[in-house]
Amino acid sequence: MDMQQMFAGRMSRLGTESAFEVLKKANELEAQGKEVVHLEIGQPDFATPDNIIEAAYRAMKNGCTGYTTTQGIPELRQAIAEYYAAERNVPASADEVVVVPGGKPIMFFTMLALVEPGDEVLYPDPGFPIYESCIRFAGGIPVPMPILQENGFKVDVEQMKRQVSEKTKLIILNSPGNPTGGVLDKADVEAIAQVVRTTNAMVMSDEIYDRLIFTDQKPFSIASIPDMKERTIILNGFSKTYAMTGWRLGYGIMNREMAEKVTLLMVNSNSCAANFTQVAAVEAIRGPQDSVEKMRLAYQERLEYLTGALNTIEGMECLMPGGSFYAFPSIEKLGVDDKEFADRLLTEGGVAALAGSAFGIYGKGHIRLSAANSMENLQRAVELLRAFVEKIRAEQK
Ligand SMILES: Cc1ncc(COP(=O)(O)O)c(C=O)c1O
Repeated sequence: MDMQQMFAGRMSRLGTESAFEVLKKANELEAQGKEVVHLEIGQPDFATPDNIIEAAYRAMKNGCTGYTTTQGIPELRQAIAEYYAAERNVPASADEVVVVPGGKPIMFFTMLALVEPGDEVLYPDPGFPIYESCIRFAGGIPVPMPILQENGFKVDVEQMKRQVSEKTKLIILNSPGNPTGGVLDKADVEAIAQVVRTTNAMVMSDEIYDRLIFTDQKPFSIASIPDMKERTIILNGFSKTYAMTGWRLGYGIMNREMAEKVTLLMVNSNSCAANFTQVAAVEAIRGPQDSVEKMRLAYQERLEYLTGALNTIEGMECLMPGGSFYAFPSIEKLGVDDKEFADRLLTEGGVAALAGSAFGIYGKGHIRLSAANSMENLQRAVELLRAFVEKIRAEQK
C-alpha cells in the first residue's frame, strides 16, 4: 500500500517544531559519545515546585483520577479568572476560561474554530513555528509580521497597518516573544489595538512567557483594553511559569461563545485535561509564588551572562531580551547561512541551537539559544561557540 496516497491533503500543510528534531539529532550524537550542550529546547531546567507536586499527589490519593468537566474544574477556572482580573486587569469570569492540555491546544483550537480557507492570519515572524503550521492546516493564508532586531524585536505597527485587509480573520501576538524575547509595552499594545479596530479580526494573545520579564515593566495584555476583550483569546499556561512542561496544562480566556466552541473541540479530542494536574494548578496559582521569582531571576542572570559573552564573539551581536528565556543573536556578519551554522555548530562545535529561519523567513541570520540551562553549561557553550566561530572565520580567510 502506498501510504503517501492515503493521507488527507491537509497533512501536507502541517509543519513541525525544529526544537524536537534537533533534540533527537543531539541525543543521537551523544549516544555516539560526542559532547553536546543542549541549548535547543525551550524547557525550564528547574523541577516543578514542591507545593505543586504535593498538591497533585494529594489529589491523586483523594481520588481525583477520573474525567472532569470538559471546560475544566470550576475551582481552577475561577482561580485563573481571578488571577487575570487582579494581575492583568482583564475582568474575566470562570465561564470565559477553558482549561486544555498545554498552551498549544489553544492555538490549534482557535485556528480550527475561526479560520476558513482563504482567510488571512497575521502572525509574528520570527515566531513560534506552530502558528504558521496551524494557520496553513486550517486553510488560512499566513501573513508574517516581521519582528526585527533593528526594531527591538517589536511589531512594526506601520507595516501592520499595510498588512491588514478585509480578509484578516485573526491577528496573533506573542509577548514576551519566542524566539526573540521581545516585549510589547502598553504603548505598543495600544498602537496595535488601534490597527485591530480597523479590522473585523479576532486577536490571539500568546502570553505564555508573561511571568518572565526582566525589566520593571508589567506585562500588558491587549485584553485589558475594554473594547479588545471581546475579540481577544488569551493563551497562557503552566509550562514555563511553574516549570510544568510535562504536566501538559494550559488555558485560554475568551468570550463565552468562543469558549463554547473551544470546549466542543475539547470534547471531540481530549474530553478534558488530566484531573489531578488541574487540582495542582489551583495550588500553583493560589500558593506561594517565590519559586516563580527565583526561576525568573536565574534566567535573567544567565541571559545577562550569555548575551554579554556572545557580544564578545566577533561577528555575533545579541540584545538582552526583555523577557522569555531565549537569546537570539544575529550571526549575519559571519556571512554563513543560519541553518548551515546551526547544523555545523551541533555536529562540529558541540552546541545544540536552533536556526533563526526555523522560526520564519525574518529569523534568517540569527540563531536561538535557550538559557534554560545551568550557568556551567552556558559557560561551556560559550567556549565551544567561540572556538567554532573562530574555525569558521579561519575557513573564510
Ligand atoms: C510562544 C509559545 N507559545 C506556546 C507554547 C506552548 O506551550 P505548551 O508546552 O504549554 O503547549 C510555547 C512552547 O514552547 C511557546 O514558546
